[in-house]
Amino acid sequence: MSKIAVLGFGTVGSGTVEVFCKNKSNYCKKTGQSLDIKYILDVRDFPESPYADKFVKDFDTIVNDPEVTVVAELIGGNTFAYDCVKRALQAGKSVVTSNKELVATKGAELLQIAAEKNVNFFFEASVGGGIPIIRPLQQCLMSDEITSIAGILNGTTNYILTKMLKESAEFADVLAKAQELGYAERDPEADVSGGDACRKICILASLIFGEHIYPEDVYTEGVTSITKEDAEYAANWGGVIKLIASAQKCGKCLEIVVCPCFVSCESQLSGVDDVFNAILVRGEATGEVVFYGRGAGKYPTASAVVADILNAVKNESKNICWKEKGAESCVVDYKKQEHRFYLRLADTDKAKVSELFGDVEFLNRANMPEGEIALITPELCREELDKKCGDLKVLGKIQLFDIGG
Ligand code: NDP
Ligand code: HSE
Repeated sequence: MSKIAVLGFGTVGSGTVEVFCKNKSNYCKKTGQSLDIKYILDVRDFPESPYADKFVKDFDTIVNDPEVTVVAELIGGNTFAYDCVKRALQAGKSVVTSNKELVATKGAELLQIAAEKNVNFFFEASVGGGIPIIRPLQQCLMSDEITSIAGILNGTTNYILTKMLKESAEFADVLAKAQELGYAERDPEADVSGGDACRKICILASLIFGEHIYPEDVYTEGVTSITKEDAEYAANWGGVIKLIASAQKCGKCLEIVVCPCFVSCESQLSGVDDVFNAILVRGEATGEVVFYGRGAGKYPTASAVVADILNAVKNESKNICWKEKGAESCVVDYKKQEHRFYLRLADTDKAKVSELFGDVEFLNRANMPEGEIALITPELCREELDKKCGDLKVLGKIQLFDIGG
């Protein structure tokens, strides 16, 4: 008999308990053992809940109970949650989590403890919500050399961009709706600043690179400066604007960045709208594989958490492993990497811009104001771009997405 403890009864925690209890009888068949949720830990009381008798307030009750073999951490953050996860692993209990902040900042250490204690530390729900991506990378694609991963990894910002740019909704209104739907982080700044997508690409990059990639080493831009005008120019160019997180191997180093991008309509990522996420994995042998589905929300995320619980109960799957970061960062300087960029400039003219950038592609939109110029630059690095933009009045600057098709 396996007893499970769920930490946090918010969006993901309550979904996890619901999904688990609804399908519990099937899980016994699937795992070959009877299993049940014994405890739910939350700061609040839920006297009306059908699971009211399972609530506890003190983590000691859980960590000191030898019957509990799996702990699902669904609280978030890397303070209290970190303490609980570490103590659970040290006590010889497997842990599953949806907490990307925790995995992106403490993953190497927690994986090491799990390995020493011969228990599982699983985090399928931490990237892509309900999309299977961690286990496929670790198992189905393990024969291949993965050269790049790029994708739309944040449901909230994809939902916001879709509603703002396609339906002319206001940023604040759509963000409030994303919060109501349970997509956004407790502090939604992490979504809109690109920080959440950064944590997720760090997890995927650590997985393919075998070394912990930390969020503070990754250049990250959010979506707050994107305007409808930029989207109109993107359409004129033949694409859309998406927040893209990408990691690409370059020899022994890694180019990793999170920023809004112009994505061509020919790319499979261009049609990914609303809360959906898509992750494009490129392997030397496989070529391109795309994973697509709901990237946030109660039930999709809960389904990934429960699957991890079942895998931990079976204890057949081995942990993913990556080592601690080396003395020198393997992340290349993003400012030195060459890309093409979209620029929207005011108070200038085509002759001046052509002289500065060379062979550019000019863009148009309806009702362009006098003196506004929009263009696509030739390939150049950000350092050079910033230098060239020195005296110009820049209204918009967005990288072109150039990984995969
Ligand atoms: P919620 O804020 O909805 O849930 C967290 C729950 O934990 C709340 O009930 C909260 O109570 C409780 N809690 C907070 N601190 C403590 C504490 N010290 N002890 C006990 N309980 C506590 O968050 P989500 O469910 O949305 O997210 C949980 C985790 O899953 C986060 O790491 C998030 O990033 C991740 N995630 C979320 C997804 C989503 O779609 N929402 C998708 C994928 C991952 P109270 O509200 O009273 O503070
Ligand atoms: N806030 C996150 C998002 C939740 O919007 O993608 C899923 O990780």
